[in-house]
Amino acid sequence: MTVVEEKAEPRVLRFPEGFRWGVATAAYQIEGAATADGRMPSIWDTFARTPGKVHRGHTGDVACDHYHRYAEDVALLSELSIGTYRFSLAWPRIKPDGSGPVNPRGLAFYDRLVDELLAAGVEPMVTLYHWDLPQTLEDHGGWTNRDTALHFADLATAAVSKLGDRVRTWTTLNEPWCSAFLGYGNGVHAPGRVDAQAAYLATHHLNLAHGLGAQALRAGGAQEVSLTLNLTSVRPHDPGDRHDADAARLVDGLQNRIWLDPVLRGHYADDMLALFQRFDAAGAILDGDLEIISTPIDLLGVNYYQPALVAAQIGAPANLAYPGSEGIIYPDQGKPTTAMDWPVDETGLTDLLVRLSVDYPGTPLMVTENGAAYTDVPAGDRVADPERIGYIDAHLRAVHAAISEGADLRGYLAWSFMDNFEWGYGYDSRFGLIYVDYATQRRVPKDSARWFSDVIRRNGLE
Ligand code: FCB
Repeated sequence: MTVVEEKAEPRVLRFPEGFRWGVATAAYQIEGAATADGRMPSIWDTFARTPGKVHRGHTGDVACDHYHRYAEDVALLSELSIGTYRFSLAWPRIKPDGSGPVNPRGLAFYDRLVDELLAAGVEPMVTLYHWDLPQTLEDHGGWTNRDTALHFADLATAAVSKLGDRVRTWTTLNEPWCSAFLGYGNGVHAPGRVDAQAAYLATHHLNLAHGLGAQALRAGGAQEVSLTLNLTSVRPHDPGDRHDADAARLVDGLQNRIWLDPVLRGHYADDMLALFQRFDAAGAILDGDLEIISTPIDLLGVNYYQPALVAAQIGAPANLAYPGSEGIIYPDQGKPTTAMDWPVDETGLTDLLVRLSVDYPGTPLMVTENGAAYTDVPAGDRVADPERIGYIDAHLRAVHAAISEGADLRGYLAWSFMDNFEWGYGYDSRFGLIYVDYATQRRVPKDSARWFSDVIRRNGLE
């Protein structure tokens, strides 16, 4: 008698056919070469040089030296079977003073990078603006000045006319909430201004820049136009408490709706308009702006790291990252945290994606950033990072659950391809799938890189 051993097939949680897998980076965080080929300073060069602004005085001067090592980096992407590589263009390379003529040597870098990616079988996905505003434009008011939005449209035109024949998917802005509310509200990001009116002016001008940029991209023949927002699920501490619910509604407004509504519904909600008015910024919203801002997009990029938990508390001062949010506190979420103390809770991602598909139907979604910083310790040629694998695994399951509940999700990009300059946190917060030894610039794929590569190859999780 033969005994047929019953071997249980490992169950695979499969993602839809054609699901786009990839990784993301941003120019200032990885490129270095801060003065190469005509690049001029951005607000982040200035900010990082201002004592006390960035952890241990780190700057992006050298970063991962990707500007010179891009070929080696693209080879790594291809070795890991990364399908899509999302990166940003440095405005101060392409138009060094923000508004003047195009600097061909700066644009040529992205031309080389795109060719290298395509030759390696990796699809380029370009973000036009990931926070590195030319300093000259900030000297004229930065995002508080309406002209900055017009100059941004010119940047879009220059970029798409050079790269549009090879780049299918374009993103106007990355996380305008950070540019407006961290840049001009609480000042923890460049340009470091603490001015609520400026934050609201910046909010509208960033929305306008998105709309004008989207139109310029379309006019230049871009196939797929998108915007990436850092959205989250904002939860009331006690859902049954009316004051907590109001607090959650306000924070949801400033984190999510003030960006989503004008782009996808063509108007600001009344509670947000009241804030523009309160901070003397409503005059910036001119006739016709909302038609521009609501130019249809093909894809909404969602960056997700953690949910928010809020409660009402009489007398609490406003968190300047949400100007106008007096009387609100942010209780501990009681969750495990990353090395940056960010709570880990993937249910916020499922809820967010499902909510987007209900409240803003019809726009395909893509997770354009998700990941975590942990303390990575290399041992020879290996960096074991089980916590990062756990984080991404949990969030991929959360994404899968959202798809099962009907969210039209087209892809998932991990943040980040490699360790890099984590803004105010400098180089100590490592988000990469690839470890970077900054002293030698050696790249070492972490265990998470190998693991993620397997996920991509099987288009699913075991
Ligand atoms: C996002 C940014 C990205 C990176 C991650 C950790 O807010 O878009 O550049 O800093 O957070």
